[in-house]
Amino acid sequence: MTTNNVVLHLDHLQKTFGKFKALKNVTFDVNQGEVFGFIGPNGAGKSTTIRTLLGILKRTAGEATIFGEDVWTDRVSIHKRIAYVPGDVYLWPNLTGGEIIDLFLK
Ligand SMILES: Nc1ncnc2c1ncn2[C@@H]1O[C@H](COP(=O)(O)OP(=O)(O)O)[C@@H](O)[C@H]1O
Ligand SMILES: [Mg+2]
Repeated sequence: MTTNNVVLHLDHLQKTFGKFKALKNVTFDVNQGEVFGFIGPNGAGKSTTIRTLLGILKRTAGEATIFGEDVWTDRVSIHKRIAYVPGDVYLWPNLTGGEIIDLFLK
């Protein structure tokens, strides 16, 4: 159940790549004011979960909301209120940092 102090809500989130089930019923909430460590071994599905929450990947099944809004259909609205700092980012090695910022600003 989603209550007012629930920021992030996942209920039986599933993601399949072809026949491969990367996420099987991921279910948890993160409440306002909580610092939440999302840990697990390589291949556990952490990045897939986060890409789904960011609206980059479309989930196969289940429910996922941030601020009570759907992470897929309401992703533009959600992105006005969230920030994401990736630990493993691969940009374009032939561009400078300034050129990449200019590209994103476009
Ligand atoms: N785009 C994709 N296509 C197919 N399989 C994928 C894709 N992305 C991730 N996977 C698979 O899903 C599983 C979870 O991966 P991932 O979310 O990257 O795990 P983690 O970030 O926890 O290491 C892995 O078995 C990975 O190989
Ligand atoms: Mg990862």
